[in-house]
Amino acid sequence: MNGMEVVVYLMLLTGCLAASKLHQVIDNGHSFNVTVNDILIFQHTYDNPMLYVGMGRTNFLEFRGNFRIDNDINRRVGLRNYTYQNFNWTDEIDFLMDDHQLRFRITTYTDKSVGIEIINNGIEYDYLWFRVVAEASEQVYGLGEQFSHLNLREFSYTPGKDPELFSVSRSRDRIYPIWTREQGVGRDKHDQVTFFADKMSGAGGDYHTTYFPQATFISSRKYLFHYDWYNYAEFDFSHNQYHEVFIKGEFSNLAIIPRDNMVDLVKSFVADTPLGKMAPLPSWLRDGIILGVQGGTDIMLKRLKTAQDQGVAVNGLWIQDWAGIKNTTFGQRLFWNWKWNPKRYPGLDQKIKDLKAQGVKVLAYINPNLNIEGDLYKTASSQGFVVKNRTGNPYLLDFGEFLCGIVDLTNPAAFNWYKGQIKTNIIDLGLSGWMADFGEYLPVDAVVFDKTLSIEMVHNQWPVLWAKCNRQAVEESGKLGEIVFWMRAGAAHTSNYTTLMWAGDQNVDFSYGDGLPSTIIAATSMGLSGTGLTHFDIGGYTTFGSLGLRRTAELLLRSAEMAVFTPVMRTHEGNQPDFNVQAYSNQYILLQFARLVQIYRMLGNYTTSVIQTCVRDGIPAQRPLVLHYQNDPVAVNAKYQYMYGSDLLIAPVIQANVTSQKVYLPQGEWVFLWNTSTQTAGNKYITVPAPIGQPPVFYQKTSPYSATFNAISKIPLVPPPPTTNQPSTKAPGSSNSGVLTATNSVLLLLTLYTQLMYNFSI
Ligand SMILES: *[C@@H]1O[C@H](CO)[C@@H](O)[C@H](O)[C@H]1NC(C)=O
Ligand SMILES: *[C@@H]1O[C@H](CO)[C@@H](O)[C@H](O)[C@H]1NC(C)=O
Ligand SMILES: *[C@@H]1O[C@H](CO)[C@@H](O)[C@H](O)[C@H]1NC(C)=O
Ligand SMILES: *[C@@H]1O[C@H](CO)[C@@H](O)[C@H](O)[C@H]1NC(C)=O
Ligand SMILES: *[C@@H]1O[C@H](CO)[C@@H](O)[C@H](O)[C@H]1NC(C)=O
Ligand SMILES: *[C@@H]1O[C@H](CO)[C@@H](O)[C@H](O)[C@H]1NC(C)=O
Ligand SMILES: *[C@@H]1O[C@H](CO)[C@@H](O)[C@H](O)[C@H]1NC(C)=O
Ligand SMILES: *[C@@H]1O[C@H](CO)[C@@H](O)[C@H](O)[C@H]1NC(C)=O
Ligand SMILES: *[C@@H]1O[C@H](CO)[C@@H](O)[C@H](O)[C@H]1NC(C)=O
Repeated sequence: MNGMEVVVYLMLLTGCLAASKLHQVIDNGHSFNVTVNDILIFQHTYDNPMLYVGMGRTNFLEFRGNFRIDNDINRRVGLRNYTYQNFNWTDEIDFLMDDHQLRFRITTYTDKSVGIEIINNGIEYDYLWFRVVAEASEQVYGLGEQFSHLNLREFSYTPGKDPELFSVSRSRDRIYPIWTREQGVGRDKHDQVTFFADKMSGAGGDYHTTYFPQATFISSRKYLFHYDWYNYAEFDFSHNQYHEVFIKGEFSNLAIIPRDNMVDLVKSFVADTPLGKMAPLPSWLRDGIILGVQGGTDIMLKRLKTAQDQGVAVNGLWIQDWAGIKNTTFGQRLFWNWKWNPKRYPGLDQKIKDLKAQGVKVLAYINPNLNIEGDLYKTASSQGFVVKNRTGNPYLLDFGEFLCGIVDLTNPAAFNWYKGQIKTNIIDLGLSGWMADFGEYLPVDAVVFDKTLSIEMVHNQWPVLWAKCNRQAVEESGKLGEIVFWMRAGAAHTSNYTTLMWAGDQNVDFSYGDGLPSTIIAATSMGLSGTGLTHFDIGGYTTFGSLGLRRTAELLLRSAEMAVFTPVMRTHEGNQPDFNVQAYSNQYILLQFARLVQIYRMLGNYTTSVIQTCVRDGIPAQRPLVLHYQNDPVAVNAKYQYMYGSDLLIAPVIQANVTSQKVYLPQGEWVFLWNTSTQTAGNKYITVPAPIGQPPVFYQKTSPYSATFNAISKIPLVPPPPTTNQPSTKAPGSSNSGVLTATNSVLLLLTLYTQLMYNFSI
């Protein structure tokens, strides 16, 4: 990043000074309060200071994108004494320590936001803590993409599980680190998969681990807290009377933006901060489903035909193995050398054209790492374009029997070179999109070209540089609005660069920690952080055949029916495709997909309007109920239901063996999507049938899209398969390439480990 951009990022708020002052400092000489729009934000007394500084050292222990982080704090001091000065639109509070001061300069801006600059005059510290006033009943939302908690102060863990069980065995801490990393495998310390992942490599994750943290939150006290920088930080929402924000390193500015309601608060991300906003998604995405397939040209075409023969509208084939494969003792892996491999995909260049003419796009896969056996790595390293280690050699990361260099995205020449590779190897080949994977692994002992920021900040910023590289390749090719790339890693300003997010790697199950339910919170929490266009792997990803973690037909179909009510439908075979039921596994499943994709297509105009609203105002496509019903005590905590746009309420089926489901309807007049004679006023629960293919969905009676919804209600269900109730897990004669996908290489070790354990235990 160059100096210019630092200035842009630090310019916290748009606009200039205000016509009337929004903030007040009430000082009595011994203590003070700071209010913003009459909301008490800071409260300081000698005995309970709002600000602390400390010394210490933070250790980051990394194993393949999983981090154990220990703050070894040896001193923490409250800054109790202060002086206060008032200017016209600005107030300055100097917190005193010996002869030095830490100044809070608080300014009201015309856009009705309050900016707080922190100016350090001589105090040495490694860490800074400050407290924001809280109320016991307050809810907070956001912090980027979360998977376990929507209300970040929620203490009970999941519905359907005994909360007492969790309160004895689980700490009541709600501390969310701002650190991009693998989101974890299992993410629930009670679960067997998490146990193995932790045991093996600390890869199990927890309620707070995420690919996409962002230091912004929205409070039910009607303000937006916006910190626009990349420090390692922790937000502690465990306390009744305050939130404590912990920041490592030099502090940047923050903003408090008060607004009257949740919708206006969310709009502020786009209207009042420089975070940026998303671009419209290509319209072709609404024509059908992207099938994740692999195995070479013939298999790709065979899968397409199989799907089309059963009436599935396929608009894209996503071939992650387009660059070839590499054999390892764990199985086949992708060859991380991001260009077309004609041996694995003969004639792909021509096929891309032929398929495009039939309305089927081809999409690929890349990440910011290069296998040292490939020619791209050789070019990059010979020009000094890869991240270095402390002895000045290329920093090589072991991804499981192969080593990779990391393209140094802080080096403008390397950035441009890699952007050029994306243009020539992908865009010029005619591909219409790709998964831009990873972005979380930059080690903290790496040495990068641009040393303006600490390596820890560069680590957190890396996803944005990665997004920017992809975005510029698309824009400079003149293909914005035609090409889609999707990312899992993120940080503040991701919304300005990525074209789409996805929820990363879920387990192929219904678990709350890491299964289908967690994708709902991923979308809604990200939406309340200013990034409103996302989707997820239909059917999940993380498979552990040897542990019995395999995708069932039921999970696949429940995911697909939920994906109808998201901006994009895309499948993934998973990391062990042979253990998983696939969209193409049998005719029954294909007919289900055909019907669901048909409904998704019928929703096309509605989806377009939902996306337009997101792009214009920053209001997300998938919205938690609290966004529209903030005064409804049930809605504010409803984390597994969401609004898709303002007219559809979705209560996805997120458990196995469900035949009917209880749904909460907030205020309004609602019509049941699958039986329009079921109409009711809201503010109550209702139980509705929920067979596979008809997840509980209601629409607002007054919706201008009623005719579309009514037409959807007429689409009959797919009859159950003739012989068995449960579709078989394997299609007769289906062969699978068995390529392990690239993401989360820790899984490979785990697989081997558990297979060994399994073998030894028999
Ligand atoms: C700050 O607010 C608290 C709570 O409303 C109040 O008790 C206290 O007196 C206020 N302090 C000052 C200096 O106004
Ligand atoms: C605050 O100021 C008082 C009076 O000047 C002084 O006695 C006290 O030590 C100071 N406290 C701290 C924590 O600096
Ligand atoms: C405050 O406002 C007064 C009157 O508008 C003006 O004369 C003065 O220069 C301002 N002071 C500062 C510090 O902006
Ligand atoms: C957002 O992206 C655009 C280019 O797409 C760029 O011009 C602008 O500076 C970016 N804004 C920020 C705050 O990064
Ligand atoms: C990987 O191994 C398979 C046999 O298991 C072989 O057919 C294939 O050619 C090998 N691929 C590469 C890239 O070495
Ligand atoms: C730096 O990387 C080289 C390989 O590129 C390796 O041989 C060397 O041991 C590494 N040094 C350190 C300090 O990690
Ligand atoms: C979508 O809108 C266009 C015009 O805006 C209309 O022609 C078309 O019929 C609509 N499609 C559906 C499925 O409602
Ligand atoms: C669902 O039903 C099947 C078959 O009856 C049973 O084996 C399984 O345990 C049930 N799953 C749950 C989560 O209840
Ligand atoms: C549709 O809903 C109406 C009214 O709730 C109910 O009487 C009817 O049985 C439902 N039809 C079906 C097919 O479930």
